[in-house]
Amino acid sequence: MPLKKIVKAPNVILRKSSKPVKNIDESVKNLIQDMLDTMYNASGIGLAAVQVGILSRIVVIDTSKDDNKKNPIVFINPKIINKSKKTVTNEEGCLSIPGYYGEVERHDTCEIEYEDISGFKKTIDADGILSRCIQHEIDHCNGVLFIDHLSKLKRDIIEKKLKKNIK
Ligand code: NI
Repeated sequence: MPLKKIVKAPNVILRKSSKPVKNIDESVKNLIQDMLDTMYNASGIGLAAVQVGILSRIVVIDTSKDDNKKNPIVFINPKIINKSKKTVTNEEGCLSIPGYYGEVERHDTCEIEYEDISGFKKTIDADGILSRCIQHEIDHCNGVLFIDHLSKLKRDIIEKKLKKNIK
């Protein structure tokens, strides 16, 4: 399967909102396989379709740490339907913003509604790293990046550096 090129900030596509998937057809299934291959190749734990240049609400996640036991979850049209009031702050990075990290506040736990690759409606209670990761990836589907959650000062510094990279 071909690896996709990961779109890097400040590419404007990362700021666009992705569209719901209506039919899970062959092209969608191929895209999902390519996204998984691309995520594993980049040693990431999550990837949204917009990060490979496709504005569809598709997210792949694998938070298992063991390389030999892959445990991918495919989220099509994921939506947060419940979230804890309690929040936790932890360090985050992003394959589209390589080399930068920041402390991001997220809901401690959340409940996600989504469709699986067969089109079945499912829900999952997410906590820990999965909860953080799915909130980060759903942000991507809405054109939001983790740096948007940082203080304006920190965000400005990172954005300035990113802009220099494209010159
Ligand atoms: Ni990301």
